[in-house]
Order: sequence, then structure tokens, then C-alpha cells
Amino acid sequence: MKRKLIIVWLLGVILVLLACTDTSTPETVKPEESPVVVKEEEPVRIGFSMDTLQEERWLKDRELFKKAVEDLGAEVEIVAANGDDALQISQAETLIQSGIDLLVIVPHNAAATAAIVHKAHLAGIQVVAYDRLVKNAELDMYISFDNEQVGKLQAEAITALVPKGNYVFIGGAITDNNAHLLKEGVFKVLQPYIERGDIHVVYDQWTKDWTPANAQANMDEAIRTTNGQIDAVIAANDATAGGAIQALKNHGLASQIPVAGQDADLAGVQRIVAGSQTMTVYKPIHMLTQKVAEIAVALAKGEIVTANEHVNNGKKEVPSVLLPPIAVNIDNLESTVMKDGFHTAEEVYGKGGE
Ligand code: BGC
Repeated sequence: MKRKLIIVWLLGVILVLLACTDTSTPETVKPEESPVVVKEEEPVRIGFSMDTLQEERWLKDRELFKKAVEDLGAEVEIVAANGDDALQISQAETLIQSGIDLLVIVPHNAAATAAIVHKAHLAGIQVVAYDRLVKNAELDMYISFDNEQVGKLQAEAITALVPKGNYVFIGGAITDNNAHLLKEGVFKVLQPYIERGDIHVVYDQWTKDWTPANAQANMDEAIRTTNGQIDAVIAANDATAGGAIQALKNHGLASQIPVAGQDADLAGVQRIVAGSQTMTVYKPIHMLTQKVAEIAVALAKGEIVTANEHVNNGKKEVPSVLLPPIAVNIDNLESTVMKDGFHTAEEVYGKGGE
């Protein structure tokens, strides 16, 4: 019995000694090289090609995306093209040549940026579309908010207030796929009202480059051609809503007609408090930046990333993530936009609204 115990004890000691022996020495490290120096891996480098920094939201996108990428231990190089297609393409080429591991792009022009995806792929670099889809390209991934839902939320809010009457639709940029998706959402909700003859769309126009000045010109035209017979306005974002409201103001119509926007821009939120804008659609940017950063870094490291949704971009079913947008009006402003710290109470009320 005692001998058996000693044998078992000896076997145990041998097993422990074997377990302590390091057999995991990497093949590249020679045994005589002591102490073992493990070379640190180079951090992943992401390129971020932005269309513009014109609307307030893009400054948040830039700042939060940088932080999200860096928190994952990666690096990011950011460029913005001021709404210039040729500049966006050449900036992206420079990023590709600089040896980035992956390209994230907010296209100015959904069609023109297909050339960038092609060039990146030739260099072995995957491309992720951020917020806006790239059309007709072998895009690797698309991450955005549900833009059709943005339009639906706008139209649902405005039809609840104005179920009958003359509607003006101030669209976004025709070159931006999001503007098309939003319009689809708006008109899906309006269609039954239009068919019943309750709602008449008396003006419907795109707004070049989403600028407030172009939206104001559109709204001026809408007021002129309808002789001011307008009961509601749906504008594609807060920038265009701002331009439309300025035109209404100039004609003494501001705060009398419901106006919808999108983005929860500070100016838009302040107009909601002041009563000249009815609602906006809030898209928590930090959720987008976090998702894109995680996926971009994982793809850059060669990991396989799958997605539950797919969006057809004319060339392929692009694996996609679509985050939910939130309708915001005066009643839930504090429990959404302000609760998230998107804008502080001081920012919203401190300047006294309009
Ligand atoms: C975005 C909006 C933004 C607009 C203008 C769209 O693609 O989805 O949030 O207001 O571009 O920059």
C-alpha cells in the first residue's frame, strides 16, 4: 500500500514538472536567445474618409470615432473632402498608399465613391461604408441607422398633427443614398393619405449638398408657387429644416406650420424648445462610432465579421448593421438627447433657444 502511494506520489511530481516545462516557445525564437524578447505587434491603422464637416453631427462623428478606434488600441487617420468628389477620391488614394489596414468611408457621392472601393481592393484593403451606402461596388460592410425609418418617424409625427392639408417635402442631397431612403420612408407613410385625397404634396424637391441656403431657396419657391397655402413641412435634416424655417419666418409663417427635421442638431433642438420646429430624429452617434470601430478593427485584424442584415447596393447584398433612430419632440427631449449628454441643458436652454 505504502509502495503504491510512493509510486503515485512520484508520478504526480513528474506530471507537475512536465506541466511546468515551457513547450510553447515560438518557432521564430531560438533557444539560445535569452531572455526571450517578444516583438510588439504594430497597431492596426484605419483610414477614415469623410465627405464633409459641414453639419454639426459630423464633428461628433469624427471625435467619437477617433476615440472608439483608439480605445480598441488601433490608430486612425482622418480626412474630410468638403463635399468635393474628386478631392474625396484623391484623399482616399493617399490613405490607401500610406498603408492603412482598412478604409472607412462616408461617401459624398454614393456612385462616384465606387472607384475608391475598387482601388482599395486592388491594394488588398477592405472598405466599410459609414452612415451612407456606396452604390455599385464590392463594398465589404455597411453600418448606419435605419434611414427609411427616419423618414417614417418624421411623417408619422407630422401626419398625427396634420392629417389633412398641403405638404412640402424638402429633400436631402440627390447624390446621398440616405436622402433616397428617407424619402421612401416619408412617402410610405404619406401614401394612404395622398390616395384618400387628404394630403396634397404641393412641393417636393432635393436640396443640393443638404445646405440650409439651398433649402431656404426651395422653401421660398414652395411658398411662392403655393401662395403660402402650406400646412406642414418635412425637411430631410435639421440643416435643411433651418433653411426652410428661415424662409417661413421671412414670410411671417414660422411657428404656425409643423416642421420635421433630423439629427438633433443643437440649433434644431433649440428651435423645438422655441416652437418653430416640431420634431427631429435623434441618432445616437456614439452607438454608430462604437459599432463601426469594433467591426473595422476586427476586419483589419483578419477576423470574420457576420451581419444579420443585408442591403442591396446594386452590385451585391452588402452585410449591414442598421441602428434604430429615435423620434424626438418637446416631450421626450430631456429623456433622450439630453439624458445621453448629446446636448446639455445649458447648451439647449442657456442660449435661450431661437
Ligand atoms: C445623414 C444625415 C446628415 C446628412 C447631411 C446624411 O447622409 O444621414 O444625418 O444630416 O447626411 O450631412
